[in-house]
Amino acid sequence: MIRNHFLTSDGLFLDNLGNIEENKANEQFFYDKKTLKILADIAEKFEYTCLLCAPTLGDELIRRGRKVRILDIDMRFAPLRGFRYFDIKKPLSFGEKYDLIVCDPPFTGVRIKQLFNAITKLSCNNPSQNILISWERQYLKKKFMKIFSYFNLRLTGFCLTYRQGFIPFPDELMKKYGEEVIVELYSNFPALN
Ligand SMILES: C[S@@+](CC[C@H](N)C(=O)[O-])C[C@H]1O[C@@H](n2cnc3c(N)ncnc32)[C@H](O)[C@@H]1O
Repeated sequence: MIRNHFLTSDGLFLDNLGNIEENKANEQFFYDKKTLKILADIAEKFEYTCLLCAPTLGDELIRRGRKVRILDIDMRFAPLRGFRYFDIKKPLSFGEKYDLIVCDPPFTGVRIKQLFNAITKLSCNNPSQNILISWERQYLKKKFMKIFSYFNLRLTGFCLTYRQGFIPFPDELMKKYGEEVIVELYSNFPALN
């Protein structure tokens, strides 16, 4: 439950994020402080960033005074400045140009092609769009790399970490991929240099 006075458009969510429970039905896992800082340090260099499925990073960038578009299916983040309801499965274009798109997607609940279509639409069909996207080390990795080759993504060498620490695979995938989800960061620009 979020208390009303925490519902502010000025990026005051984070201190109180303990009050927002991760919604596992939406494969929702919040970044831990270390990952949040690393991603925010990269994104704050850009003028206008679109956060697709990364609402807590949107909150942090608002705190840092950056212009953001925050897109997520979870309406609990609607009070954040720049938030729009967005379903990857029914993507809309807002006719905006972003300097960077950051995406931390649900891996199993959305098809890779649907994710690709949504990001392509948000990029206005621009293969040179700067992108930071995370994907699981094993899960349909070849397919992910093939479909997203349009954006010329490369591994950055950075693995994201989350508040909960150990993130499990859904039961039906555990046998095939092991227990632990390891999330790697991809980009198509020198993000960590
Ligand atoms: C792995 S979590 C990433 C959260 C991020 N690490 C953060 O700290 O803000 C996936 C996110 O995708 C969102 N999501 C799940 N299904 C979605 C869909 N169909 N369309 C848009 N967003 C979706 C969830 O609400 C969640 O915020």
